[in-house]
Amino acid sequence: PSSAVRDDAGRIVIAGRDAESLAAEFGTPLYVVDETDARARAARIRTAFEAAAASAGTTVTIYYAGKAFLSGAIVRWVTDEGLAVDVCTGGELAVALAAGADPARLGFHGNNKSLVEIDRAVVAGVGAIIIDSEIEIERVADAAARAGRVQPVRLRVNSGVHASTHEFLATAHEDQKFGVSLERAVELGTRIRSHPSLDFLGLHCHIGSQIFDSAGFAESAERLLAAHAELARIAPVPELNLGGGFGIAYTSADEPAPIEEIALGIANAVADGCRAAGVPVPKLAFEPGRSIIGPAGITLYSVGTVKPVPIDGGTRHYVSVDGGMSDNARTALYGADYSARIASRTSAAEPALARVAGKHCESGDIIVDAEYLPADVAPGDLLAVAATGAYCWSLASNYNHVPRPPVIAVRDGVARVIVRGETEADLLARDAGLAASGHEGQA
Ligand code: LLP
Repeated sequence: PSSAVRDDAGRIVIAGRDAESLAAEFGTPLYVVDETDARARAARIRTAFEAAAASAGTTVTIYYAGKAFLSGAIVRWVTDEGLAVDVCTGGELAVALAAGADPARLGFHGNNKSLVEIDRAVVAGVGAIIIDSEIEIERVADAAARAGRVQPVRLRVNSGVHASTHEFLATAHEDQKFGVSLERAVELGTRIRSHPSLDFLGLHCHIGSQIFDSAGFAESAERLLAAHAELARIAPVPELNLGGGFGIAYTSADEPAPIEEIALGIANAVADGCRAAGVPVPKLAFEPGRSIIGPAGITLYSVGTVKPVPIDGGTRHYVSVDGGMSDNARTALYGADYSARIASRTSAAEPALARVAGKHCESGDIIVDAEYLPADVAPGDLLAVAATGAYCWSLASNYNHVPRPPVIAVRDGVARVIVRGETEADLLARDAGLAASGHEGQA
């Protein structure tokens, strides 16, 4: 599930740099992103959807969902590759703008945008604000009127499709906080149209995340198209945005369909639905995050302790590394599966059941629940955990006052820091009760 290979010395190599030299230069834990791979994934998704949209007689915009992992460098990579950018907070908006993203190619999400965030988005000229609730219609309309602008908006609806994924990641069934009910889409779309300061672009739906085929998207599109067509009979509806959520392989057990197949499946469903409803095929838009940056990332850790623990019918080796749930919360949060390999050498030792644990003070601090690692895995070995590019750095915390690791990008054998790691001094500096912060003490 990654672009990494091994060199003759058995070391894992990422974009031309071996793991051992990266760890020596930057330390561990270390987030490593293969820039070439990330760019290639962005380009492949865009190309796949452009071809599918063309076959359905329309065009498409691919927004990179910044929540997966947003930094200045990544914004530049994805915009270079022809993608727009989707943000969901003022902080993400600030990063995208500071990185030079074209405001007109930004989408702004969020179920509880503050009035300040809405104002900033409107004034910046964000290309689309995604209205998530009835209350927000007037908020955005007022902000646009105050700014003397006409703000393009989409209306996020629940299609009622429950994507087959972890419950926390599925967002389009009714009993959750995002969007408005599909039954109210026509009414609220019409309300949006009644505001001269708003420009109604169309409906939006995001059915969930880590989805492996087109069926849920097609089903969701079909349901949305009834409301879309009703609105389109009154006035043209230029767009339909079907969100993100394309799955990736975390382990060899995961087999997502090729993105080309998914793109065609969705585009065909939209084209068929529009033909049946007698409305033109709208421009399409999607918002993938994980499928672009997830597989391009690897985390390197150093093994600190190895502890054999007797379990029913055998032994489990607790392999503890120098990071943990503060740099990858997904296993603890969602029961996510990852794979781990020794990155600094190959081994002829028998595979033995291992659990890769972190250094945090709780037993749920696990990175890889069950993995067969060579039985001679030992302190000092480097471990690589694949497919950590999405929702790891972005979900990172300072639990137990552990500083967040740096992120480096590697391209053609050259590595550079794209997000500086935190130091203990950074953590102490924010604590107003410590002399180190300069706010107190020292008298
Ligand atoms: N669009 C919207 C409106 C979203 O809410 C999301 C993800 C995306 C696009 C991008 O989905 P993607 O293509 O990355 O699957 N922290 C969880 C995932 C949360 C997803 C939230 N929304 C995880 O680590 O699996």
